[in-house]
Amino acid sequence: MILVTGGAGFIGSNFVLDWIAAEASPVVTLDKLTYAGNPGNLASLKDDARHIFVKGDICDRALVARLLEHHQPEAIVHFAAESHVDRSIHGPAEFVQTNVVGTFSLLEEARAYWSQLAEPAKSRFRFLHVSTDEVYGSLGRDDPAFVETTPYAPNSPYAASKAGSDHLVRAYHHTYGLPTITTNCSNNYGPLQFPEKLIPLVILNAVHGKPLPVYGDGLNVRDWLYVGDHCTAIRLVLQQGRLGETYNIGGNSEKTNLDVVRTICTIIDGQRANSAPHSKLISYVKDRPGHDRRYAIDTAKIESELGWKPREAFDTGLRKTVQWYFDHMDWVASVQTGDYRKWIETHYSARQ
Ligand code: NAD
Ligand code: DAU
Repeated sequence: MILVTGGAGFIGSNFVLDWIAAEASPVVTLDKLTYAGNPGNLASLKDDARHIFVKGDICDRALVARLLEHHQPEAIVHFAAESHVDRSIHGPAEFVQTNVVGTFSLLEEARAYWSQLAEPAKSRFRFLHVSTDEVYGSLGRDDPAFVETTPYAPNSPYAASKAGSDHLVRAYHHTYGLPTITTNCSNNYGPLQFPEKLIPLVILNAVHGKPLPVYGDGLNVRDWLYVGDHCTAIRLVLQQGRLGETYNIGGNSEKTNLDVVRTICTIIDGQRANSAPHSKLISYVKDRPGHDRRYAIDTAKIESELGWKPREAFDTGLRKTVQWYFDHMDWVASVQTGDYRKWIETHYSARQ
């Protein structure tokens, strides 16, 4: 049994589905079901006895303690977080609460549970913390990519809250010996991503002929990692990663935001041959405050230690992703609730 937090979100649900397909051990998913969590992401596991879904908050220590006691997991894979940078600028408090206090609560309960385990369960236990490359800050155009020893320099409330959680995880290993591993990955894309993030937002706006909002000059660079590659990497790190270590995970696909948006437009143009070029919908809007210019990941450590490499090329991964959204408009409709529409309206009307 493994316990997955945030398993109803984008990466978490891809991970749970991937785990159930590839591994023998069952999964307990703990998720608060915020606006970003959707139990429908795991609907295909409804009748699968190897999956249990629990609605709850990682800050609820009594609940976490009960789950650990009852299910005796051999690992915790921790995805639960507030994850959208723009929302952290509008309202940072939730980010500190879930990302910092929530991770602290989980670490405390994990430590209490792990301390009383008998061997060999104690040696086998792992706490895997999923973090981000944003903790390293912003790179200049010619700077070398982030390595695991790059000093932390978070620039948004989101990045600062993730950095805080990373430091707590490190301290729990160093001080108490809790068997932790942290992964820091770049921008994920793929099926089931909530359409507030760049790629699904642009796909859906393009399909509906709406403006494609590009912040600033559109030349900020991100490294894009296909979510399936990320899930494979996490499984490998869980099984073979060294305790107390951190591993950077990236897609070796650095792109400017304009490149990403234009590529999506070209893919959709190919599917809708009679419409005007979708790139005509590109609309430059007010920049994000403190917008990091460039992220890039050096994957040498995970490649050499664990033999992992990203398999998906950006072009094919993006085509699959566009197709997934075209094929799942019912899913899209189910997540575009009143809360979502309010966010889009408030956030983008302020950027015109
Ligand atoms: P997401 O926003 O899609 O999902 C987060 C999930 O966590 C949701 O299901 C939500 O309901 C749940 N959650 C939030 N607060 C909770 C709480 N207090 N208790 C229990 N559950 C709670 O996020 P994502 O994009 O899937 O990201 C998952 C993890 O990966 C996060 O830790 C994020 O920081 C990290 N990450 C994401 C990316 C990316 O590109 N998406 C890149 C690097 C790192
Ligand atoms: O680098 C990893 C991080 O990637 C994760 O830790 C975060 O959880 C995840 O949200 C993501 O953060 P970004 O801020 O990079 O992702 P986002 O999709 O919000 O934006 C990607 C880029 O596109 C960024 O430079 C801002 C820009 N952008 C975004 C939106 C939503 C636009 O130009 N227009 C938009 O409407």
